Amino acid sequence: MNYYSTQSTTKEGILTIGGIDVATLKQQYGTPLYIMDEAHIREQCNWFKTGFTHNRVSTEVIYASKAFLTLAMSRLVHEEGLSLDVVSGGELYTAIKAGYPAQNIYFHGNNKSLTELQEALEVNVGTIIIDNPHEFNTLKSLLTANQSVNIMLRLNPGIEAHTHEYIATTKNDSKFGLSIFDETTMDLIQAIASTPQLHFKGFHSHIGSQIFEESSFTAHAEAILKYVKAVKDTLGITVEAINLGGGFGVRYTADDQPIDNQAFLHRMLEVISATSDTLGITLPHVMIEPGRAIVANAGITLYEVGTTKQVYSQKRYVFVDGSMADHLRTSLYQANYHGVLANRMHEEASHDYTVTGKACESGDIIIRNVKLPHPKTHDLLAVFSTGAYHYSMASNYNRLTRPPVIFVKDGTSRLVVRGETYADLIRYDVDDAQ
Ligand SMILES: Cc1ncc(COP(=O)(O)O)c(C=O)c1O
Repeated sequence: MNYYSTQSTTKEGILTIGGIDVATLKQQYGTPLYIMDEAHIREQCNWFKTGFTHNRVSTEVIYASKAFLTLAMSRLVHEEGLSLDVVSGGELYTAIKAGYPAQNIYFHGNNKSLTELQEALEVNVGTIIIDNPHEFNTLKSLLTANQSVNIMLRLNPGIEAHTHEYIATTKNDSKFGLSIFDETTMDLIQAIASTPQLHFKGFHSHIGSQIFEESSFTAHAEAILKYVKAVKDTLGITVEAINLGGGFGVRYTADDQPIDNQAFLHRMLEVISATSDTLGITLPHVMIEPGRAIVANAGITLYEVGTTKQVYSQKRYVFVDGSMADHLRTSLYQANYHGVLANRMHEEASHDYTVTGKACESGDIIIRNVKLPHPKTHDLLAVFSTGAYHYSMASNYNRLTRPPVIFVKDGTSRLVVRGETYADLIRYDVDDAQ
């Protein structure tokens, strides 16, 4: 199964990505190494842009930068013509430093600080998504009489979706946004809409991640459109735009059956168009915010094998030179991954192994169970689908250095984030001895 568009194997049995075999990449950059297939990322951007279109509906694709953001990625997203979602001053800073146009940025977050709001206003960010009344008041207090900014409000539609199903409940406990079932939400909408410096564009909501069910997305869209109608009827306010968030599932292992997004996205716009007509509301501008679906499959993490260990219970471990510090999702979400011995692709994967790393935690698991040929010291182990929420979630736990990130394309590679050194680890320590 191919995870990224340029995946292949040399006749010597070495995995290649972007036209380069991973043994060559290991020689040049070392391991652990985050490798991103640039052509695949660009294809995904393009795929969403062309798939998310409809002759009646105005649409926009916003890349959720929390999945993976660097200067190079910000530039790629701009080149591909996608808007950008940021959730912190740090993400905003990265995008602006890369020359990404502030007007195309959507600033999210449930607890933006005063400083972050100031920073957003200073760079003239395109849209701020307000999460709660406190944020509205803070923003209002910062605006001068002739300043203006586009605003969306984060709603909680009472729908939660994860992978195979969704649940609809008025008691959704999410910390994000304001409930559509709470009457005071209308008060905030009224207050935003009547603040002269704020241009109220509409609503944002996001119901979960790694979603495989079309019905989750359509139920979500319908719930928001019904609320748009309620706002029109109650407050006389016409909502111009709705942002339905991200959450489009990807394949981590052969068991995962993601939606064929391109066909589905068009169907979703059909539903939005028809539902708006039925409700008698003006068809809004519709946005989506994929993160994972753009970058997850573009990434592999390359490790070197240290040794193997069969413990008393007979369980077999293979130890690699990374850890949960560069691969958090298995321990954080019990996520499943597929991996291969990348220098022995032609050999039969005959035995079950748990791939673990160097961190001092029993939970330091990279792959819970994968069939591999018997690994040997210095073999290369590649883990697929690590392009989203890997580099962006990496830490220095156990004072492990974060790996470099490279982009590969058409047989060439380029460093986009250099690997950390020990000196980087003590860079912010205050050295009392000096
Ligand atoms: C507000 C918002 N938008 C978009 C995303 C992207 O989700 P995904 O990467 O699953 O597409 C997230 C993820 O948490 C989110 O919280």
